[in-house]
Amino acid sequence: MNPVAAKPLLSAQSVFDVAGKSFVVTGAASGLGEAMSEVLSANGAHVLLIDSDAQALKRVHERLSATGGRVQSQVIDVSNAPALKAQVAEFVDNRQGLDGLFANAGISGGPGFGTEAGAVTGGIEAQSPQDWERVFQINLHGVVASLQSAAAVMKLQKHGSLVLTASIAGVKAEPFVSYAYATVKSAVIQLMRQTALELAPYGVRVNAIAPGFIKTNIAGGRLHDDATALRLQSKIPLGRLGRASELHGITLLLASDASSYITGALIPVDGGVLAL
Ligand SMILES: NC(=O)c1ccc[n+]([C@@H]2O[C@H](COP(=O)([O-])OP(=O)(O)OC[C@H]3O[C@@H](n4cnc5c(N)ncnc54)[C@H](O)[C@@H]3O)[C@@H](O)[C@H]2O)c1
Repeated sequence: MNPVAAKPLLSAQSVFDVAGKSFVVTGAASGLGEAMSEVLSANGAHVLLIDSDAQALKRVHERLSATGGRVQSQVIDVSNAPALKAQVAEFVDNRQGLDGLFANAGISGGPGFGTEAGAVTGGIEAQSPQDWERVFQINLHGVVASLQSAAAVMKLQKHGSLVLTASIAGVKAEPFVSYAYATVKSAVIQLMRQTALELAPYGVRVNAIAPGFIKTNIAGGRLHDDATALRLQSKIPLGRLGRASELHGITLLLASDASSYITGALIPVDGGVLAL
């Protein structure tokens, strides 16, 4: 083979190509979902942005459209499974297929026992089924509904990439996050593995990202607080919190054929926390 002629095929643009492909991103109006959406649309993908926050979603839609992004948006609460499935089905019909879905929307469910606020409400004795309910609805049932909205078409077309946003808190105990959050993120990781096994024979890949501490608006924006950041960074090998834009690379990897042989994997984006 002539190595010069083969070169363009090995360019980053070609290996991580998402141009013209179609994706759904939930929780697209802020933080990690916004970062996922912006890198997909900046690289020529069609993206359906889903979020429950109408104002923030409009802002992100306008921002991405203004730079030529081929985006659509829908205000949906992911815990409303019928609404979510109907919107994804419409997008799939219009686009005649679906290359990937990022089930990313999530909430913190309050403070952990290791935060100042959590000293009162975050301990084991204060846990109530009512407090956990919303976290289950969004962070677990919302993810299941997202998977369901995409699985049938992906099985049929024998291709697709499903990406779940889990957390380092689903792997190791973390006093900063709520009991419900850590417990449910752990379930999301097992949900990913189970689904990966079922869908592998169809050529559909399912993976999860385990972000560490990334400065976003989650938990009322606590991670933007300097004192909190200072306290947390001592337990991060890279010595700092992450930026949402540091999800760009993993997004393109999992969205493109660059990850064609990766399924059932939990990939940390955590500055090294899970190596400890
Ligand atoms: N930031 C971190 O440090 C961190 C760490 C690990 C995991 N995560 C996970 O990353 C994901 C994204 O969080 P983020 O940090 O970007 O937070 P964020 O608050 O900045 O963004 C979350 C987005 O999800 C949306 N959302 C919340 N509930 C929704 C619902 N019911 N339906 C539709 N949209 C909804 C919000 O409106 C918001 O736009 C979550 O699953 C979170 O658990 C974040």
